[in-house]
Amino acid sequence: MKFTQVSQYLPVLALVFGYAYPQTSGNAPSADDPAVQEHLKRRTALISEEKLQRQGMSNNHYSDSPTQSSYIPGAKSKADHDFRSTLSPVAQQAEAIVGAIRQYEIENFWRKPAGIELEDNERFAGEMFANAKPLIPSTKLWGIVSRMPKGSLLHVHSSAILQFETIFNILLETEGIVITASQDVSTVLSAENATLAFSHVSDFAADPKVANVSIESPYYVPGTKVPVTYAAESFSGGRSAFIDFLMTKVAVTRDEVLRHDLGVDEIWRKFQSCFDPAGSTMTYEPVIRKTYQSVFNAWVDDGITWVELRSGGSAKLVPEGEDTVNPDLDFWIHVLLDELQKFQATEKGKGLWGVRIIWADFRGLESSRLLSNMEKAIERKQHFPDLFSGYDVVAQEDLGRTLLDLAPELLWFQNRTQALNITYPFFFHAGETLGDGNSTDDNLFDALLFDSRRIGHGFSLYKHPLLLEQYVEKNILVEVCPISNEVLRLSTDILHHPIPAMIAHGVPTAISNDDPAILGEDSAGLSFDFYQIIQGFDNIGLGGLGALAQNSIRWSNFVDQSQEEWIRDIDLGLNGTGIKAQRLKQWQEKWETYCQWIVEEYADWNATLIVNH
Ligand SMILES: *[C@@H]1O[C@H](CO)[C@@H](O)[C@H](O)[C@H]1NC(C)=O
Ligand SMILES: *[C@@H]1O[C@H](CO)[C@@H](O)[C@H](O)[C@H]1NC(C)=O
Ligand SMILES: *[C@@H]1O[C@H](CO)[C@@H](O)[C@H](O)[C@H]1NC(C)=O
Ligand SMILES: *[C@@H]1O[C@H](CO)[C@@H](O)[C@H](O)[C@H]1NC(C)=O
Ligand SMILES: *[C@@H]1O[C@H](CO)[C@@H](O)[C@H](O)[C@H]1NC(C)=O
Ligand SMILES: *[C@@H]1O[C@H](CO)[C@@H](O)[C@H](O)[C@H]1NC(C)=O
Ligand SMILES: *[C@@H]1O[C@H](CO)[C@@H](O)[C@H](O)[C@H]1NC(C)=O
Ligand SMILES: [Zn+2]
Repeated sequence: MKFTQVSQYLPVLALVFGYAYPQTSGNAPSADDPAVQEHLKRRTALISEEKLQRQGMSNNHYSDSPTQSSYIPGAKSKADHDFRSTLSPVAQQAEAIVGAIRQYEIENFWRKPAGIELEDNERFAGEMFANAKPLIPSTKLWGIVSRMPKGSLLHVHSSAILQFETIFNILLETEGIVITASQDVSTVLSAENATLAFSHVSDFAADPKVANVSIESPYYVPGTKVPVTYAAESFSGGRSAFIDFLMTKVAVTRDEVLRHDLGVDEIWRKFQSCFDPAGSTMTYEPVIRKTYQSVFNAWVDDGITWVELRSGGSAKLVPEGEDTVNPDLDFWIHVLLDELQKFQATEKGKGLWGVRIIWADFRGLESSRLLSNMEKAIERKQHFPDLFSGYDVVAQEDLGRTLLDLAPELLWFQNRTQALNITYPFFFHAGETLGDGNSTDDNLFDALLFDSRRIGHGFSLYKHPLLLEQYVEKNILVEVCPISNEVLRLSTDILHHPIPAMIAHGVPTAISNDDPAILGEDSAGLSFDFYQIIQGFDNIGLGGLGALAQNSIRWSNFVDQSQEEWIRDIDLGLNGTGIKAQRLKQWQEKWETYCQWIVEEYADWNATLIVNH
């Protein structure tokens, strides 16, 4: 082929392969031509202008020396843009290094085309979490993200806080634990259909229902209580196979989460079926005590300093050495507070500022039962004013009662707490749906009108321009749970998640993990969710991740506050005078130390930066 012939195809080749081709006839201007430069100038200006709209439009209404007294309501300064434009030099350098590492891994670790007929080996950055999860821990980016100070965990449900393997091991080490099955698990079908439960028997010999019989035996009589150690030993494959089997009952499996073709309701049925067996693992006092210690440790290890736990307040526990529940609704709360105090008295425990509870009722309850639960919620708040933080209704939003339908009960609750002079704000799940304009999606309107201080998920919020504006205006933060949303089939993977739209519209967001032990994260911390976010979106970067962590503290409900005080302290951020500002400062110090660590640990990436630029 002669050169002239080749040059004919160069434009096409350039399109396909993306390389610059030599100028032959001078048709196109060179890159430094004023016309090209002019285009570049306008392009840069346009991108910067758009970035101004990201969380924090910098329309600060503060005077030169902002103090509480110079505060003007409505000022907005919500991280992302503001946080990132004021990064310290060290943080900027850390951000550049992390950006280079991420890009390197996208190209060299993740981008792995599979051979023909080996499609399952295809690998790419941002792929489905269930496929990426075993690979993530071997990346450098994971090493970085897992050490990050994450701030507050604002959205997590108490039945799914700790990986069940740890809990099963605690059960196996605890004397007197038995397992019962609704049917024997001798066939594939019966194993799939059986429901399991754990309980405590103080004297095996005295209980006629206790027997050493394998749950895999066709002679297993439903309801027979098998000592859990015997059940494990007698299980084919032994203890580890037994634990694997138990896992299928309390958590979604990899195969299940990949089946997006089966839709939202199908995965929710499996998800809901996990709660009873999962809950039964945590009904015996010594087990729950150890579980709390494990999870507090795991949170601190992951850089989490504050937790707001959604919990059905009616949980009842079997006291140590006994076989029946203590009917006192305060019992489990004493146990929780006791363990928290013990943990916080240790050196490591200083890293956990505390835990509060958002009382969470099942949204399917009919009116009289819901009202009676609300009474209990108010009573607990009166007994433990520091512990109870807010109120929510939970379970599948699509199939449960809508906030509109619940309006009479919710208004009753508001009225009642007001009359009692109790601060009990709402933190609703809202917009956890694929709907657009149906009754589930409309919960986003009700949550706003009920002054929900934050909302859980807000997955459908990005479709509503007016609501986006008003959520920004009213300082309502969205607790985004990216992996939960993916596993529950709202987004097929992180790349299809709407969080970039929320951030770009200026809506405050923070990252949470929702039900990490049930929804396949199999870990107590936030690192996987943080990893997904920084891995998925070029617009985030280390600075954006830091902004999300800072938001989580800014929107933490550390102490009871009136609506006005709540908004004021969010607006003032670091410049406030209360506990929130104090903790934001503490986080900021950790953040700077962390950035310094990145710069030192990954110093050899400094050279790469120069080459890449
Ligand atoms: C599945 O479990 C339910 C509830 O225990 C029971 O009624 C049903 O017969 C079981 N089906 C099979 C096929 O075992
Ligand atoms: C049941 O099995 C355990 C071992 O798992 C054993 O220690 C115990 O003695 C057995 N009990 C009876 C009644 O066979
Ligand atoms: C609020 O409570 C007052 C009495 O304390 C009652 O008169 C009023 O009807 C209540 N409103 C609602 C919406 O429940
Ligand atoms: C309501 O409670 C606050 C403190 O939580 C207190 O300062 C105020 O005096 C109380 N108001 C009434 C009417 O009891
Ligand atoms: C709203 O629409 C979504 C998407 O079709 C659907 O999954 C959900 O069940 C709907 N909610 C209701 C209450 O119909
Ligand atoms: C805090 O005050 C500084 C000036 O001292 C200002 O630049 C910054 O924007 C303020 N931060 C917030 C969150 O208002
Ligand atoms: C490399 O490190 C040096 C010293 O820490 C720093 O001054 C410089 O800005 C770094 N280069 C880049 C490209 O970040
Ligand atoms: Zn949730």
